[in-house]
Amino acid sequence: MDFFEVVKTRQSIRAFQDKAIEPEQLQQILETINRAPSAGNLQGYEVYLVTNHAVLQALARSTNGQDFITQAPLALVFCANPARSAKKYGQRGTTLYCVQDATIACAYAQLAVTALGLASVWVGAFNEDAVRAAIGVGPDLRPVAFLPIGYAAETPEHRSRRALAELVHRIE
Ligand SMILES: Cc1cc2nc3c(=O)[nH]c(=O)nc-3n(C[C@H](O)[C@H](O)[C@H](O)COP(=O)(O)O)c2cc1C
Repeated sequence: MDFFEVVKTRQSIRAFQDKAIEPEQLQQILETINRAPSAGNLQGYEVYLVTNHAVLQALARSTNGQDFITQAPLALVFCANPARSAKKYGQRGTTLYCVQDATIACAYAQLAVTALGLASVWVGAFNEDAVRAAIGVGPDLRPVAFLPIGYAAETPEHRSRRALAELVHRIE
Protein backbone atom coordinates (compact mmCIF):
# COMPACT_ATOMS: atom_id res chain seq x y z
CA MET A 1 0.00 0.00 0.00
CA ASP A 2 1.38 3.43 -0.83
CA PHE A 3 1.08 6.22 1.70
CA PHE A 4 -2.13 7.72 0.30
CA GLU A 5 -3.77 4.30 0.14
CA VAL A 6 -2.84 3.75 3.80
CA VAL A 7 -4.45 7.05 4.77
CA LYS A 8 -7.60 6.20 2.82
CA THR A 9 -7.77 2.68 4.23
CA ARG A 10 -7.31 3.61 7.91
CA GLN A 11 -10.52 3.65 9.88
CA SER A 12 -11.48 3.05 13.48
CA ILE A 13 -12.03 -0.62 14.25
CA ARG A 14 -13.79 -1.62 17.43
CA ALA A 15 -13.90 -5.41 17.08
CA PHE A 16 -10.84 -7.65 16.91
CA GLN A 17 -10.15 -11.26 15.97
CA ASP A 18 -8.64 -13.61 18.53
CA LYS A 19 -5.33 -13.63 16.67
CA ALA A 20 -1.85 -12.55 17.72
CA ILE A 21 0.35 -10.06 15.93
CA GLU A 22 3.73 -11.17 14.58
CA PRO A 23 6.75 -9.81 16.49
CA GLU A 24 8.11 -8.39 13.19
CA GLN A 25 4.90 -6.40 12.69
CA LEU A 26 5.10 -5.01 16.19
CA GLN A 27 8.74 -4.09 15.64
CA GLN A 28 7.82 -2.16 12.48
CA ILE A 29 5.13 -0.26 14.37
CA LEU A 30 7.55 0.63 17.16
CA GLU A 31 10.24 1.74 14.71
CA THR A 32 7.71 3.90 12.88
CA ILE A 33 6.78 5.56 16.18
CA ASN A 34 10.42 6.28 16.78
CA ARG A 35 10.68 8.15 13.45
CA ALA A 36 7.99 10.64 14.46
CA PRO A 37 9.03 14.28 14.80
CA SER A 38 9.04 15.90 18.22
CA ALA A 39 9.74 19.34 19.62
CA GLY A 40 13.50 19.83 19.75
CA ASN A 41 13.80 16.09 19.01
CA LEU A 42 13.31 15.59 22.74
CA GLN A 43 10.70 12.86 22.24
CA GLY A 44 8.71 14.08 25.22
CA TYR A 45 6.62 10.96 25.57
CA GLU A 46 6.75 7.32 26.65
CA VAL A 47 5.12 4.33 25.01
CA TYR A 48 3.75 1.43 27.08
CA LEU A 49 3.29 -1.86 25.29
CA VAL A 50 0.51 -3.86 26.94
CA THR A 51 -0.04 -7.53 26.17
CA ASN A 52 -1.18 -8.64 29.63
CA HIS A 53 -4.89 -9.40 29.48
CA ALA A 54 -5.59 -8.16 33.01
CA VAL A 55 -3.98 -4.83 32.12
CA LEU A 56 -6.04 -4.65 28.90
CA GLN A 57 -9.09 -5.20 31.08
CA ALA A 58 -7.98 -2.38 33.39
CA LEU A 59 -7.51 -0.12 30.36
CA ALA A 60 -11.04 -0.98 29.22
CA ARG A 61 -12.34 -0.16 32.72
CA SER A 62 -10.60 3.24 32.52
CA THR A 63 -12.96 4.09 29.66
CA ASN A 64 -16.70 4.42 29.83
CA GLY A 65 -17.55 0.85 28.88
CA GLN A 66 -15.36 0.38 25.79
CA ASP A 67 -15.11 -3.34 26.41
CA PHE A 68 -13.98 -4.17 22.87
CA ILE A 69 -10.50 -3.09 24.04
CA THR A 70 -10.07 -6.45 25.76
CA GLN A 71 -10.48 -8.30 22.43
CA ALA A 72 -7.21 -6.86 21.10
CA PRO A 73 -4.02 -8.86 21.59
CA LEU A 74 -2.18 -5.70 22.56
CA ALA A 75 -2.43 -2.00 23.18
CA LEU A 76 0.05 0.83 22.94
CA VAL A 77 -0.39 3.57 25.51
CA PHE A 78 1.10 6.97 24.71
CA CYS A 79 1.98 9.17 27.66
CA ALA A 80 3.28 12.72 27.54
CA ASN A 81 6.44 13.20 29.59
CA PRO A 82 6.33 16.89 30.55
CA ALA A 83 9.72 16.84 32.29
CA ARG A 84 11.51 15.86 29.06
CA SER A 85 9.99 18.75 27.13
CA ALA A 86 10.34 21.23 30.01
CA LYS A 87 14.11 20.90 29.93
CA LYS A 88 14.32 23.04 26.81
CA TYR A 89 10.87 24.61 26.47
CA GLY A 90 9.66 25.33 30.01
CA GLN A 91 5.93 25.87 30.37
CA ARG A 92 5.21 25.51 26.65
CA GLY A 93 7.01 22.17 26.69
CA THR A 94 5.06 21.03 29.74
CA THR A 95 1.59 22.02 28.61
CA LEU A 96 1.78 21.65 24.85
CA TYR A 97 4.83 20.11 23.18
CA CYS A 98 4.92 16.86 25.12
CA VAL A 99 1.22 16.32 24.38
CA GLN A 100 1.80 17.05 20.72
CA ASP A 101 4.81 14.70 20.68
CA ALA A 102 2.74 11.86 22.14
CA THR A 103 -0.12 12.59 19.75
CA ILE A 104 2.07 12.57 16.65
CA ALA A 105 3.69 9.31 17.76
CA CYS A 106 0.25 7.75 18.16
CA ALA A 107 -0.80 8.94 14.71
CA TYR A 108 2.35 7.42 13.18
CA ALA A 109 1.57 4.16 14.98
CA GLN A 110 -1.98 4.11 13.65
CA LEU A 111 -0.83 4.52 10.07
CA ALA A 112 1.86 1.85 10.47
CA VAL A 113 -0.81 -0.49 11.86
CA THR A 114 -2.94 0.08 8.76
CA ALA A 115 0.01 -0.35 6.38
CA LEU A 116 0.60 -3.77 7.93
CA GLY A 117 -3.00 -4.86 7.33
CA LEU A 118 -3.85 -4.56 11.01
CA ALA A 119 -6.48 -2.42 12.70
CA SER A 120 -6.81 -0.06 15.63
CA VAL A 121 -8.89 2.69 17.14
CA TRP A 122 -7.70 5.82 18.87
CA VAL A 123 -8.94 5.76 22.45
CA GLY A 124 -8.93 9.11 24.20
CA ALA A 125 -12.01 8.93 26.41
CA PHE A 126 -10.59 7.59 29.65
CA ASN A 127 -9.89 8.45 33.24
CA GLU A 128 -6.23 9.45 33.27
CA ASP A 129 -5.60 8.22 36.83
CA ALA A 130 -7.15 4.85 35.99
CA VAL A 131 -4.84 4.52 32.97
CA ARG A 132 -1.85 5.50 35.14
CA ALA A 133 -2.83 2.81 37.65
CA ALA A 134 -3.34 0.22 34.90
CA ILE A 135 0.15 0.69 33.45
CA GLY A 136 1.84 1.49 36.76
CA VAL A 137 3.05 5.05 36.16
CA GLY A 138 2.93 8.08 38.42
CA PRO A 139 1.63 11.62 38.06
CA ASP A 140 4.82 12.69 36.21
CA LEU A 141 3.36 11.13 33.04
CA ARG A 142 0.11 12.12 31.32
CA PRO A 143 -1.72 9.42 29.35
CA VAL A 144 -2.76 11.04 26.07
CA ALA A 145 -4.17 8.20 23.98
CA PHE A 146 -4.01 4.48 23.54
CA LEU A 147 -4.44 2.13 20.62
CA PRO A 148 -5.82 -1.38 20.92
CA ILE A 149 -4.25 -3.16 17.94
CA GLY A 150 -5.15 -6.40 16.22
CA TYR A 151 -6.83 -7.98 13.23
CA ALA A 152 -10.17 -6.40 12.35
CA ALA A 153 -13.33 -8.38 13.05
CA GLU A 154 -15.61 -5.82 11.41
CA THR A 155 -15.68 -3.75 8.22
CA PRO A 156 -17.59 -0.57 8.97
CA GLU A 157 -18.41 2.12 6.43
CA HIS A 158 -15.83 4.87 6.27
CA ARG A 159 -16.89 7.96 8.23
CA SER A 160 -17.50 11.12 6.23
CA ARG A 161 -15.47 14.30 6.60
CA ARG A 162 -16.14 18.01 6.35
CA ALA A 163 -15.86 19.45 2.85
CA LEU A 164 -12.42 20.85 2.16
CA ALA A 165 -14.00 24.16 1.19
CA GLU A 166 -15.37 24.45 4.71
CA LEU A 167 -12.30 23.08 6.49
CA VAL A 168 -9.56 24.98 4.68
CA HIS A 169 -9.40 28.73 5.06
CA ARG A 170 -7.33 30.22 2.30
CA ILE A 171 -5.39 33.34 3.12
CA GLU A 172 -4.07 34.77 -0.14
C1 LIG B 1 -8.62 12.54 20.23
C2 LIG B 1 -9.45 11.36 19.82
C3 LIG B 1 -10.13 10.64 20.79
C4 LIG B 1 -10.89 9.52 20.43
N1 LIG B 1 -11.43 8.76 21.41
C5 LIG B 1 -12.12 7.64 21.07
C6 LIG B 1 -12.59 6.75 22.06
O1 LIG B 1 -12.39 6.94 23.26
N2 LIG B 1 -13.25 5.65 21.65
C7 LIG B 1 -13.47 5.35 20.33
O2 LIG B 1 -14.08 4.32 20.04
N3 LIG B 1 -13.02 6.16 19.36
C8 LIG B 1 -12.33 7.28 19.69
N4 LIG B 1 -11.78 8.06 18.72
C9 LIG B 1 -11.93 7.67 17.30
C10 LIG B 1 -12.89 8.61 16.57
O3 LIG B 1 -14.20 8.38 17.01
C11 LIG B 1 -12.75 8.38 15.06
O4 LIG B 1 -11.42 8.59 14.66
C12 LIG B 1 -13.68 9.28 14.25
O5 LIG B 1 -15.02 9.00 14.54
C13 LIG B 1 -13.46 9.15 12.75
O6 LIG B 1 -13.66 7.82 12.35
P1 LIG B 1 -12.49 7.01 11.61
O7 LIG B 1 -11.32 6.92 12.55
O8 LIG B 1 -13.07 5.66 11.32
O9 LIG B 1 -12.13 7.77 10.36
C14 LIG B 1 -11.01 9.17 19.06
C15 LIG B 1 -10.30 9.88 18.10
C16 LIG B 1 -9.50 10.93 18.48
C17 LIG B 1 -8.67 11.63 17.42
